Amino acid sequence: MASVTVIGAQWGDEGKGKIVDWLASRADAVVRFQGGHNAGHTLVVGEQVYKLSLLPSGIVTGTLSIIGNGVVLDPWALKAEFDKLTAQGVTITTENFAIADNCPLILPLHRDLDGLREQAAGSGKIGTTGRGIGPAYEDKVGRRAIRVCDLAHLDALDSQLDRLCAHHDALRAGFGQPPVDRAALLAELAEIAPFVLQFAQPVWKRLNKVRKAGARILFEGAQGVLLDVDHGTYPFVTSSNTVSGTAASGSGLGPNATGFVLGIVKAYTTRVGSGPFPTELEDETGQRLGERGHEFGTVTGRKRRCGWFDAVLTRQSCAISGVTGIALTKLDVLDGFDKVKICTGYRLRGKVLDYFPSHAADQAAVEPIYEEMDGWQGTTAGARSWADLPAQAIKYIQRVQELIETPVALVSTSPEREDTILVRDPFVD
Ligand code: GDP
Ligand code: IMO
Ligand code: MG
Repeated sequence: MASVTVIGAQWGDEGKGKIVDWLASRADAVVRFQGGHNAGHTLVVGEQVYKLSLLPSGIVTGTLSIIGNGVVLDPWALKAEFDKLTAQGVTITTENFAIADNCPLILPLHRDLDGLREQAAGSGKIGTTGRGIGPAYEDKVGRRAIRVCDLAHLDALDSQLDRLCAHHDALRAGFGQPPVDRAALLAELAEIAPFVLQFAQPVWKRLNKVRKAGARILFEGAQGVLLDVDHGTYPFVTSSNTVSGTAASGSGLGPNATGFVLGIVKAYTTRVGSGPFPTELEDETGQRLGERGHEFGTVTGRKRRCGWFDAVLTRQSCAISGVTGIALTKLDVLDGFDKVKICTGYRLRGKVLDYFPSHAADQAAVEPIYEEMDGWQGTTAGARSWADLPAQAIKYIQRVQELIETPVALVSTSPEREDTILVRDPFVD
């Protein structure tokens, strides 16, 4: 298989960025295919730490990096990230970076609406990243979006703006907000347009061309399967499909182009934002996982909720996304625990379930059934080969792959790029 699709198999923040960066030097192109700057991917290379939200993680190795049509693009956030990374010494040019010209834009009015809704929802809020992601996707499927290609035709935008503003002005009025300032919006778009347009092109064409020439393409998912708008913990989800199938539709390549599906799986579980979380630990153990794993959001700085590994949810994610193999990350965070637990089933009103039910009330009510294992003495931190791992840690990995019915392809043992164990090469298998 010449291509690899990386997706998160839990609620995001599994370490996708680290793994994509590690794989990127062996790829010819890296493509983001959904989400937007709600993502936060941290890469550690020696002393340098790179935090990416919108740019594909391949940009750090200089690999051709592409933002596909499935992404919602905030041009100002892009410019800020471009400036930050350029200042860190990363080279971003029209040679190594391209944006799909049919990509919908996130506008300030989307961010406004995201904030207004969350504020109005009070304790029922989703806990979004506040980036305008949901409202921008709504406008895309509502056929009201302003897209990258429209930036080249701002003088012909009147009727599109009429439709967009009519919709948003009605919603804003409901929140007691003034209508959209069209003139200010147009002026802001005119200012940012040249920056975005230098990278804009029909990327499906470029991708199909490099694919025909035998290129290895690395598709970089954002968020995780449990945040998928269809398969996740609805309504506590993001507004895009985060499953592997989106790699094709979100980039302009067919489903036969997406190759090995690499599910990124954290050795325990975290979630940021509201919603059900069966194995959540609101005790000292949860606190310890959070501290050892530095579980604070890259985008919003919020504390991530932490809990034991949930094999039921991960097995479900792997099935739904057709995961070929997983990268098990943050194993080192479990170093030093006397006992570790894995959730192997749920109890729901007297019944035992081997899957996560769809209804929100059931999702909130399931109780985890645990299997307990001995932890390991010694450390996995920084291990770069299987032989460096304590025997009991290997048992944990083997139990995980057995329970989720999916083999381990990689193991990650620290934030650092090279602290990675290759079990099965996703580009070759
Ligand atoms: P992403 O959103 O899936 O790319 O993940 P994030 O970057 O938001 O969160 C993962 C965090 O864990 C980052 O701070 C990484 O540097 C860090 N990380 C990744 N892999 C490992 C690992 O194997 N061990 C440890 N301790 N940290 C890791
Ligand atoms: P990466 O790519 C973790 C969560 C938010 C919220 C829900 C909806 O770094 O793994 P949104 O702003 O998308 O409308 O918020 O989704 N969320 C993430 N959680 N990692 C992410 O991305 C996330 N992107 C969105 O916290 O619960
Ligand atoms: Mg993240």
